[in-house]
Amino acid sequence: MSDRGIGGDNGDNSSNGHNSNASVTVIGLGPMGQAMAGAFLDRGHPVTVWNRTPSRADALVARGAGLAGSAEEAVRAAGVVVLSLTDYDAMYAVLGGVDPAVFAGRVLVNLSSDTPERARAGAAWAAERGAGHLTGGVLTPPSGIGSSEATTFYSGPPDVFEAHRPVLEVLTAAEYKGEDPGLAALLYQLNMVMFWTSLTSYWQAVALAGAHGLKAADILPLALDATNLTQFLEFYTPRVDAGDHSGDVDRLAMGLASAEHVLHTMRDAGVDGTLPAAVAEVFRRGVASGHAGDSCSSLVEVLKVPAGSRG
Ligand SMILES: NC(=O)c1ccc[n+]([C@@H]2O[C@H](COP(=O)([O-])OP(=O)(O)OC[C@H]3O[C@@H](n4cnc5c(N)ncnc54)[C@H](OP(=O)(O)O)[C@@H]3O)[C@@H](O)[C@H]2O)c1
Repeated sequence: MSDRGIGGDNGDNSSNGHNSNASVTVIGLGPMGQAMAGAFLDRGHPVTVWNRTPSRADALVARGAGLAGSAEEAVRAAGVVVLSLTDYDAMYAVLGGVDPAVFAGRVLVNLSSDTPERARAGAAWAAERGAGHLTGGVLTPPSGIGSSEATTFYSGPPDVFEAHRPVLEVLTAAEYKGEDPGLAALLYQLNMVMFWTSLTSYWQAVALAGAHGLKAADILPLALDATNLTQFLEFYTPRVDAGDHSGDVDRLAMGLASAEHVLHTMRDAGVDGTLPAAVAEVFRRGVASGHAGDSCSSLVEVLKVPAGSRG
């Protein structure tokens, strides 16, 4: 076991993030957790790691991390315990068997993504054990970990955030968003709904291009332009907030016709049309709700209504 990991701070209960050599535990060594543990090692922090599949720790141990023999040993090893797990269920699976008394005075920095509700429940779970809980929404892939140009949103007790800011800033720039533990999770999910849908639209375009003998590289300039929505977002934002969906520059009926052209182009090419069919369906509902002459932004009002409860 490395002297930079377990026992580096004698397993003390300190959660003082101002100590530049503060010991840190990282639980969960997927691509993200590995990058995070690596960033802490790069900055000279004693690091203890634990992962369900221990072999994922090999490279980190070779670099000086200590490998805990159990999740409980990992929690005991540092005042700051970073969780980088698939979701909050994984947190309960990993930490549920740990003696509750071990958490007192420690801080769980939960960088696992999940819903705002589950983040709030996770914070309450930690509080029941006397631990602080910071919810984090990491807005970068693993390659951005260790860079101040990448950002993570945090929410939770402001004093806990401030006390640990230096440690958090080893990973990325740290933006505090508010006390509600669900807030960082909400902002993360807002980011992801746009990210996944946009990226899937790119996979869709590449599949269509491929069906016509074009490679991804052939459509890169077009893809970069099409996915740059800056002008549209800046135009629509004040109008949406003002409830102004007037059809002066675009009309939903036009949008529906266009969405159906996209769908038919997929079908003609023999390409899966699940995504464009869903888009066309949303437009169709908007038109059916009486918004044919309104701007496509009126879909915001349509989407606010749960699908099952429409008249
Ligand atoms: N990767 C990205 O680009 C990215 C970007 C932003 C945010 N995130 C978020 O960051 C978190 C970690 O990302 P990742 O890519 O490293 O995720 P991942 O590949 O899913 O790895 C997650 C870790 O969770 C562990 N795990 C999952 N279920 C478990 C269970 N029931 N019991 C014990 N351990 C369990 C895995 O252990 P095993 O190794 O044993 O399977 C692994 O160490 C996720 O919440 C993800 O949404 C990821």
